[in-house]
Amino acid sequence: GTDSADSTDGAGGGSENIRVGFSQLGAESGWRTANTESVKANLTAENGIDLTFVDAQQKQENQIKALRDFIDQDVDVIAFSPVIETGWDEVLQEIKDAEIPVVLVDRTVDTTVEDPFVTWIGADFTAEGVTAGEWVAENAPDAKIFELQGTMGSGAQTNRQEGFRSVVEDQIVGEATGNFTRAEGKAATEAALQAYPDMNLIFAHNDDMGLGAIEAIEAAGKVPGKDIQIVTVDGVHDGLTALLEGKFNFVVECNPAFGDQLLELIKQVAAGEDVEKETIVVDQAFDQTITQEIIDARSF
Ligand code: AHR
Repeated sequence: GTDSADSTDGAGGGSENIRVGFSQLGAESGWRTANTESVKANLTAENGIDLTFVDAQQKQENQIKALRDFIDQDVDVIAFSPVIETGWDEVLQEIKDAEIPVVLVDRTVDTTVEDPFVTWIGADFTAEGVTAGEWVAENAPDAKIFELQGTMGSGAQTNRQEGFRSVVEDQIVGEATGNFTRAEGKAATEAALQAYPDMNLIFAHNDDMGLGAIEAIEAAGKVPGKDIQIVTVDGVHDGLTALLEGKFNFVVECNPAFGDQLLELIKQVAAGEDVEKETIVVDQAFDQTITQEIIDARSF
């Protein structure tokens, strides 16, 4: 970008900031909020970035519009976290034609466009599902499982499901989406308690839906973590607190605080340097031996 005299705002040192358009998919969960905070805390003018951040409110059409606006603004780098995997062919081709490099963040795309992004940073969703499945296979081998799925067609949903079912397929009695939100997780669990009365373990694709499930289970007069065990993914503050309280049984981390790594990737991409095709964010897992000190020491 050479068209704007004020794009050097406050960075000092005289060099021009990198103009980045970031399309975030929404604000659906505690994870997403923490991820947005980490992105905004790192992609700052002080760090040499002139950031335009747009929240799509979980709607693909909003995201496509934001991406087209970034093309019109001729930003230096486009970063985006796609709400679902498919439906990006046209806009990715437009970005490619405009020769703007794409850094894919968190979720993945499924597209016919060749080389649609320079680099991707995110978690290994399949491995997260496998880790959750292995805990169930070892600790609740006879459980009857209800799978509370994330936004259907998102990389986080398809891959967690695939990983989990590669370990515990036969035990699943029902499934429904809760769209990664607490409210929809609660509603889906209310319906599941009616539809599958013998269900006694929920695998929720994120903490927020698991927290909604706690509300539904308690309202039905049952004890979460005991009558119905709950396994989730994310490890945000509220999720780990539920684990400490014994309402969740196992939490696989998905670390949202990778804004610092994203900043480095964007700088390398803008400078035209070679970068790794993928950066996998490191995850851990927690059971009920977690302590308040561990929770307090975390940034999200
Ligand atoms: O794509 C990551 C997932 O999206 C998180 O696990 C979930 O909480 C968020 O909504």
